[in-house]
Amino acid sequence: MYSRIAGTGHFAPEKILSNSDLEKLVDTSDEWIRSRSGIERRHLADDDQATSDLAVEASKAAMEAAGVGPDDIDFIVVGTTTPDLVFPNVGCIVQQQLGIHGCAAFSVEAACSGFIYALSIADKFVNSGQARCALVIGAETLSRITDWTDRTTCVLFGDGAGAVILQPSDEAGIISTHLRADGQYRNLLTTTAGISVQPEGAALREGFNVRMAGNEVFKVAVKSLESIVEETLEANGLDRSEIDWLIPHQANMRIIKATAKRLGMPLEKVVLTLRDYGNTSAASVPMALDIAIRDGRIQRGQLLLLEAFGGGFTWGSALVRY
Ligand code: UT7
Repeated sequence: MYSRIAGTGHFAPEKILSNSDLEKLVDTSDEWIRSRSGIERRHLADDDQATSDLAVEASKAAMEAAGVGPDDIDFIVVGTTTPDLVFPNVGCIVQQQLGIHGCAAFSVEAACSGFIYALSIADKFVNSGQARCALVIGAETLSRITDWTDRTTCVLFGDGAGAVILQPSDEAGIISTHLRADGQYRNLLTTTAGISVQPEGAALREGFNVRMAGNEVFKVAVKSLESIVEETLEANGLDRSEIDWLIPHQANMRIIKATAKRLGMPLEKVVLTLRDYGNTSAASVPMALDIAIRDGRIQRGQLLLLEAFGGGFTWGSALVRY
C-alpha cells in the first residue's frame, strides 16, 4: 500500500513587508536582497496570529480540497520550529481548533526540513495501514524569532503554512522519502537561546533569535541538496528527465538554481514562491506545492521532487506521483 496526496492547502497572513519597508529598518537595499536571495516581499503574522492559526487555515483548505471532515482525520503531524508553546504541541492545538478528537497529534522539529520529515513520518503510518487520513502540516511564524536589527537574517524570513491530506492508495503516491541530518554543522544556523539552554547571564528567553553564518550555510546547502536529489533518482532508477516539477525549499534563488541545474531542469519546471513569501522555513515546500496545484501547473499523474534544507543541519527529499 502507498499513501497519496488527496488534497492540499496553504495560508499566508495578510500583512506584507516589502524590501523597501526593510530599507527603513536596517542598512540594506531592495537591490541587495533581490540579487542575493530572490526575495521581494514576505508575509508576516499579526501579533495575535500564532503558528497554529496559520496551520488551521491551511488545514481547512487541504481538507476541503480532499473532501474530508474532522471525523476522517486520524493522524496529525506538524513540521515547525516556531511552535505556539513548548506544550501543548501545535498538532494538539490544531486538532482542538478543527474539532478533531483522539488521534495522534504532534510536531516535528527539523527547522526548514520539518515538512519533509513530517511527510515522511505520516507516509509510514498511512502505507503501513496505521492511519487512513493523515493531516501533514508545515507552519511557521519565523518573524517571532527574527532579530529585526540583524540585516543578515531579517531580510530572508516570512510567515505562512501549508498542509496536505494523505490517504491510502494502491498506486504510488509518495514513492520514496529520504531524510538526512548532520549535527556537526549545528552552530552555523541556530537560535541564540532556547528552553534548556540560555546564554550566560541572560534572562529567560531574552534575545531568542535566529543566527546564521549565511555564506557557509549556502555552500553546504548546495552540496547536500545536489546529493539528496541524486540519491532520490538513483533509489528509484529514474532519469532526471522524468521529473515534471521540482518543488524546492525556498531559501535562496541561487541555491534553487544550483539544484535545478544538477537535475537539468529549466526554471519553468521549478515552483518558485520565494519572491512573494521569502523563506517560510517548514512551510515553504507545502505552500509552493499548493500554490502550483491551485494555479493548474501541477496536474494529477505528474512526478514531483520535493526537497528542503535547514538548521541542524537537516535535509531531505520526497518523490511524489501527484
Ligand atoms: O532555510 C534554511 C537554510 N538557509 C539557507 O539556505 C540560507 C543560505 N544562505 C544564503 O542564502 C546567503 O548566504 C545569504 C542570502 C544569507 C547571503 O548572501 P551571500 O551572497 O552569501 O552574502 P554574504 O553573507 O557573503 O555577504 C556579502 C556582503 C557582506 O558584506 P562584506 O563583508 O562583503 O562587506 C555582508 O555584510 O553583504 C553584506 N550583507 C548585506 N548587505 C546589504 C549581508 N546582509 C546584507 C543585507 N543588505 N541585508
